[in-house]
Amino acid sequence: MSDAPTKTFPKRIFSGIQPSGGLTLGNYLGALKRFAQAQDAGIETIYCMVDLHAITVWQEPSKLRHATRELAAGFLASGIDPKRSILFNQSQVPAHAELAWIFNCVARMGWLRRMTQFKDKAGKHAEEASVGLFAYPNLMAADILAYHATHVPVGEDQKQHLELTRDIAIKFNHDFGVDFFPVVEPVIEGAATRVMSLRDGTKKMSKSDPSDQSRINLTDDADAIAAKIRKARTDPEPLPETLEGLEGRAEARNLVNIYAALADMTPEAVLAEHGGQGFGVFKPALADLAVAKLSPLNAEMRRLMQDVAEIDRILGEGADRADAIAAPIVAKTRDIVGMVGSRRG
Ligand code: AMP
Ligand code: TRP
Repeated sequence: MSDAPTKTFPKRIFSGIQPSGGLTLGNYLGALKRFAQAQDAGIETIYCMVDLHAITVWQEPSKLRHATRELAAGFLASGIDPKRSILFNQSQVPAHAELAWIFNCVARMGWLRRMTQFKDKAGKHAEEASVGLFAYPNLMAADILAYHATHVPVGEDQKQHLELTRDIAIKFNHDFGVDFFPVVEPVIEGAATRVMSLRDGTKKMSKSDPSDQSRINLTDDADAIAAKIRKARTDPEPLPETLEGLEGRAEARNLVNIYAALADMTPEAVLAEHGGQGFGVFKPALADLAVAKLSPLNAEMRRLMQDVAEIDRILGEGADRADAIAAPIVAKTRDIVGMVGSRRG
């Protein structure tokens, strides 16, 4: 790759999730589960609850507080160990907002105007959207680059933002004649980089979908999970034996992908096992698997939420460790930019 960094940075993973409501199966399979796998592989991992991103749209303060703690419980219940990973909330570490301002002055209006997430979220009301919603990707770049992170596991929907992060790093390095920020690699892999709605196989499963039937929430109990899978939209054909047979069958493909991701199998292997079955047989098998995998997670989240002081303690400790990495990198950034008094950090 022509724009690959000339300096090699040690592998360090960073990712973030917004505390803007409940977690879905999409967040679990597309993000949390993979975050835990990276940690278990022994890679240095930093995970962040991005509350500064959440407030780019209105958040009721008491709900934001609750959602941040519940998200932390979701991380912990998914296997994130706060001793092996750094787990914290963004607003406790000043480096994020500080570096984001510098990146506001690096990124160009035209780059941000192309971002599809802004267009989707602001819709027809772009004039009423917050300035923060528009500048959101610059803050995301700051999250990642404040740690010199090299790899960022995310779902498919975040790909464009990571390309912007790369562009910011390249422009900063070029403008200041340095090789300071790494050019990050998106890590978008596995069967569940895009878990789709249970009601419409062409739409992403999302916590903001008005229909609760469209998603599995990590707080759903076993009965709710099973009922939602039973009622999931499908077609009348049996499952094919091979992947090509899923062509044009978005809903069937989605359920196969969910099964594969939950069972740590490939979609091919799921079809080898279940090909020829109708949904009357496959759906109950998927419901059993989903309940078996998600119920313990759900129970653990409830247990953790009974002691919010402990969650806050874990986040505080994570913030101290995050700050120790990010503050010197941001101090060096200020120095490169020519700000006086930047050598103290
Ligand atoms: P968000 O909840 O939008 O902050 O997303 C947090 C993480 O979950 C990001 O890495 C997203 O890409 C991922 N994610 C959200 N929804 C889905 C989905 N339906 N399928 C796969 N990944 C998802
Ligand atoms: N924008 C991401 C989302 O909506 C969340 C996020 C913020 C993020 N900062 C990040 C993801 C840094 C990865 C790395 O899902």
